[in-house]
Amino acid sequence: MAVLGGLGLAGAGAVVGLGLYNVSAQVGHLPGVSWVLHTTFRNSVRLRAPSMEDAPDLSDSDLIALGAGHYATACAMCHGTPATPRSATAQAMVPEPPAIAEAVEHWQPNELHWIVENGVKMTGMPAWPATGRGDEVWAVVAWLLAVQQNRAPVPPVDTSGADYCRTCHESPGGPVPRLDILAPAYIAAQLELYRTGSRPSGIMAQAASVVPRESFADLAAELGAKAADVAPDLPLTGEGAELASRGTRKVPACLSCHGDDRSKGPRLAGQPSPYLATQLRLWRDGTYTHDRLMVAAARDLSDADIEALSRYFGAQGE
Ligand code: HEC
Ligand code: HEC
Ligand code: HEC
Repeated sequence: MAVLGGLGLAGAGAVVGLGLYNVSAQVGHLPGVSWVLHTTFRNSVRLRAPSMEDAPDLSDSDLIALGAGHYATACAMCHGTPATPRSATAQAMVPEPPAIAEAVEHWQPNELHWIVENGVKMTGMPAWPATGRGDEVWAVVAWLLAVQQNRAPVPPVDTSGADYCRTCHESPGGPVPRLDILAPAYIAAQLELYRTGSRPSGIMAQAASVVPRESFADLAAELGAKAADVAPDLPLTGEGAELASRGTRKVPACLSCHGDDRSKGPRLAGQPSPYLATQLRLWRDGTYTHDRLMVAAARDLSDADIEALSRYFGAQGE
C-alpha cells in the first residue's frame, strides 16, 4: 500500500513538476470530466440557493431596468445579449459561457441569485464584485427572468460621458438614488469609495471602474445639484419627523447633519424611500463602515425607525 501510495504521489508530482498536464484550452477536458464538473456545479447550486423570502418583487420594471444596465457592461462580453451574439473569443473559452437565453434555462430565481452572487470556480464565471450585497443581485435576477420570458430590455453600452450614468440615474426609483440633489464634491467622493470598494456595491463598483478616474469630477459637476441647496420642505410632525429632528437617547438627530447645510452629510430629502431604507440597513447591519459618524448614528435604529425615517425623507419631491 505504502509503495503504491508513494508511486501515486510521485506520478502526481511528475504531472505538476514536469508540466505533463496539457492546460491548453484548445484541447478541452478529458472525457467524463465535463460531466463530473457540470453535475457538481448543478447540485452545489441547488444545495446552497437562498430562500425566496428576502426577494423583492422580481417583475418590477425599475428593478429589471437596473439589472439590464448592470448586465450591459458586466456580463454581455461573455454571454452576449438577447440582441447581440457572443464574440468568437468568448465562445473559445473552456467551459464556454452559454448564450444568455440558454444560460437562464432550467434555473429557478434563487439558483440564479446564487450563481450571480458567488460565480463558479475555475470556469471564468466571476463572483459579484462586492460582498454582503445580495440585495443588489436581485436586480440582475429580475432581468434574467425577463430574458426567460422574452421581454428583457437591452440598454446601450456606451460608457463615455454622463449619459452612461443616466442609463440608471435618469429615472431614479426603487434602489436607485437621485444625483441632481447631491453636491458634486459628495458625488465625486462616493465614486472613489465605490471604486476602491470602501463603500461596497457591485453595481456602482462596476460603473465606477468602466469610466476613467480622471473624469469623476466632471461627471459629478454635470450630474450633481446645479443650484445652491433650496431647503426642502420637510413635514414638522409625524413619527419620522420627531426622530429626524430630535433623535432619542440612543439615536442622534439626523437633521443635525443632513439638514440645509450639506457640509456635514448629503441631502436625503427627495431620495426614493426604498433606496434610503436599503442604505440605512447597510449602515446599521455593519455592511457599510466608510463613515464613523454614520455607523454610530445608525447602530440602534429598529426596523420600524428605518421605515419611518425612509418614508419621512423619501416623501419629499415625489
Ligand atoms: C468572463 C466571462 C463571464 C462573465 C463576465 C460572466 N460570465 Fe456567467 N458564465 C461564464 C461561464 C464560463 C459560465 C459556464 C459555467 C459552466 O458551465 O460550468 C457561466 C455561467 C453562467 C450562468 C449559469 C449557466 C449555466 O447553466 O451554465 C449564468 C446564469 C450566468 N453565467 C450569468 C452571468 C451574469 C448575470 C453575469 C454578469 C453579472 C455573468 N454571467 C458574467 C462566464 C462569464
Ligand atoms: C447600472 C446602473 C447604474 C449605473 C450605470 C450608474 N449607477 Fe450610480 N448608482 C446605482 C445604484 C443601484 C446605486 C446605489 C448603490 C448602493 O447601494 O450604494 C448608485 C449610487 C450612486 C451614487 C451614490 C449616491 C448617494 O446618495 O450616496 C452616486 C454618487 C452615483 N451612483 C453616481 C454614478 C455615476 C457618476 C455614474 C456614471 C459613471 C453612475 N452612478 C452609474 C446605479 C447605477
Ligand atoms: C454626525 C453627523 C451625522 C448624523 C447625526 C447622521 N448622519 Fe447620515 N451621514 C453622515 C455623513 C457624513 C454621510 C456621508 C458618508 C459618506 O461619505 O459616505 C451620511 C450618509 C447617510 C446616508 C447615505 C446617503 C446616501 O445618499 O446614500 C443615509 C441614508 C443617512 N446618512 C441617513 C441618516 C439618518 C436617517 C440619520 C439619523 C438616524 C443620520 N443619517 C444621522 C452624517 C450623519
